Amino acid sequence: MKKKIDIEIIDKKQIPQSEPERQYYFMDIAKNYVEQLAAKKGSPLTFHVTTFGCQMNARDSEKLVGILERIGYVETDTEDADFVIYNTCTVRENANNKVYGRLGILQNYKKKNPHMLIGLCGCMMQETVVVEKLKESYRFVDLIFGTHNIYKFAELIVTAMESDSMTIDIWKDTDQIVEDLPVERKYSFKSGVNIMFGCNNFCSYCIVPYVRGRERSRRPEEIIKEIQKLAADGVVEIMLLGQNVNSYGKNLDNPMTFAQLLEEVEKIDGIERIRFMTSHPKDLSDELIEVMARSEKICRHLHLPLQSGSSRILKVMNRRYTKEQYLDLAERIKKAVPGISPTTDIIVGFPGETDEDFEETMDVVRRVGFDSAFTFIYSKRTGTPAAAMEDQVPEAIVKERFDRLLKEVQDISAEVCGRDVRTVQEVLVEEVNDHAPGLMTGRLSNNTVVHFPGDASMIGRLVPVYLQESKGFYYMGHIADKENE
Ligand code: 5AD
Ligand code: SF4
Repeated sequence: MKKKIDIEIIDKKQIPQSEPERQYYFMDIAKNYVEQLAAKKGSPLTFHVTTFGCQMNARDSEKLVGILERIGYVETDTEDADFVIYNTCTVRENANNKVYGRLGILQNYKKKNPHMLIGLCGCMMQETVVVEKLKESYRFVDLIFGTHNIYKFAELIVTAMESDSMTIDIWKDTDQIVEDLPVERKYSFKSGVNIMFGCNNFCSYCIVPYVRGRERSRRPEEIIKEIQKLAADGVVEIMLLGQNVNSYGKNLDNPMTFAQLLEEVEKIDGIERIRFMTSHPKDLSDELIEVMARSEKICRHLHLPLQSGSSRILKVMNRRYTKEQYLDLAERIKKAVPGISPTTDIIVGFPGETDEDFEETMDVVRRVGFDSAFTFIYSKRTGTPAAAMEDQVPEAIVKERFDRLLKEVQDISAEVCGRDVRTVQEVLVEEVNDHAPGLMTGRLSNNTVVHFPGDASMIGRLVPVYLQESKGFYYMGHIADKENE
């Protein structure tokens, strides 16, 4: 077999058929290849994983890092590395453009380092047009895989190392969930935990159901086992991840609700904070509100994407709730969980959005009083129903609405975010502040950032902090003691 990098190929016998054993087998082979290459280079091989997009991708990247470290690569903080992977996002067009732009830079690195491997994975790779374009114009890419077979990363690395051309492996969908593969957490004290994959909602603007496949829930035993292990390893905060966590468990052999799962997670010793993302308003149950209200560990933060405040647009978006239902839900949650911080996602300029529709969105923003809102300009995603809709809104109008919305969101945020000022609150210390020496940065239960004097030994601990001053969307404070409480 011809190969593009210079390694002694191992003759493979008795490849295990079951997972994850098969992947561990390939990790051993990859490790041998990495050792051979490192010996030739005279120093360890380096890697860099660049993540685009959401928390799900961030968690997937930790799985990639887990495997790369296990086979002997060493992480480096630049893309001038022996193996560079882009874990891509395709939710909006500009995410795709960024990847193409940066690939040009990688090509230059590769010219200097012919042993370099370039891998692309994630949502963008699930689109046929993207892979066609890469095959046509980006021949220097070594490995392309998608969202459904990320668990096969070790096997794919071996294939890519042994092959002289681009290795491409994209699956349309899967019902498989492979457990117990290595993962390397970015933070020692907090971690994402996948509870489900995929999405069945088909909101008319959204490409996610096409690139992440149908909804699949992990078995509760596996989730609990993973969180117990994380807790034993010093993790105090977990973020349960799924595109629509509120529909967790519907397709399990023994169905269970998201609220029931939360109650099980609550029982795990060592876990102090539980977050989750993302909730779909149509599936947020009364049972969940009750569990949130009585929980000691679920954080006082709810990310509840609104997308639009116009019932007419929501219908065309296929969101399956009205403006009134959203407002009612937000009101009930605020009442049941005092002090909760609502945050949201909003799309501006969905096809057919009129000034009146947009004013409905502004109205909801004012009435709910979001702590923060991610605002997005509608991006046409080929293959989604909205892309074929005729009345796309002119760019200038969208821009004007977007700027107005952003200003409103920021003004409200400055007003509501300071609600806990001059109180003592528990803060999870996350990192040393990059900009101000001597300051630490942490988060409140409601996700608001707090800066306060301290040192690196506090990282990962929950400490009481007096919130002295509100700066709009963050606080300045100091560790609370008897005198200044
Ligand atoms: N255009 C703009 N924003 C989008 N989102 C999803 N699809 C699109 C699109 N086509 C936004 C939604 C979603 C967030 C993750 O991305 O607001 O909640
Ligand atoms: Fe996309 Fe809607 Fe699924 Fe969220 S719920 S991932 S917006 S289709």
